Amino acid sequence: MNKDLERIMLTEDQIRARVKEAAAWLDEKYKNCTEPPLAVSVLKGSVMFFCDLVREMKTLVQMDFMTMSSYGHSSESSGMPKIVMDLAAPVAGRDVLLVEDIVDSGHTLVKMRELLQGRGAKSFTVITLLDKPARRQVEVKADYSCFEIENEFIVGYGLDYAQRYRNLPYIGVLKHEIYEKK
Ligand code: IMP
Ligand code: MG
Repeated sequence: MNKDLERIMLTEDQIRARVKEAAAWLDEKYKNCTEPPLAVSVLKGSVMFFCDLVREMKTLVQMDFMTMSSYGHSSESSGMPKIVMDLAAPVAGRDVLLVEDIVDSGHTLVKMRELLQGRGAKSFTVITLLDKPARRQVEVKADYSCFEIENEFIVGYGLDYAQRYRNLPYIGVLKHEIYEKK
């Protein structure tokens, strides 16, 4: 385990098993689609989850990426997520599958939903790896959530603290002293 972590919350095996279930749920959902859904990864946090998820799906999808930023270098959301890099593909008339790493305050998801529905998506489905319901500031819910977790700051499998720890293959709770020492 990385020395900056207090404990491992989700192992690689636990993540892999839930990703398979999520992919099966999506395959069922999209089984009658005539056009490939537009799968959107919200970067950078969802990148690991996104790649593993689409590889497990039988449904062919189009992949696109959007970078949102809300944190800067802190462990608290600014409440005003910004688009750092927009999608390449047009959204109008598409079945959009938004793939999130975590729904925390809910601000990012609300913003993404407004934006993509505003561009005329035919359907809009949100899947998130993690959900921290206790932290919600705006009412919003993913259609599918792999793990509901307690209010602890976690890193790994795409999630960062100040851009670090993203490439850990598991998810762990960061030691308090790491983000409190500043
Ligand atoms: P929001 O507060 O729901 O808008 O969450 C926005 C983003 O904050 C997520 O997509 C993550 O990138 C990040 N985030 C929320 N909680 C955590 C955490 O525990 N660790 C790392 N990043 C987090
Ligand atoms: Mg994120």
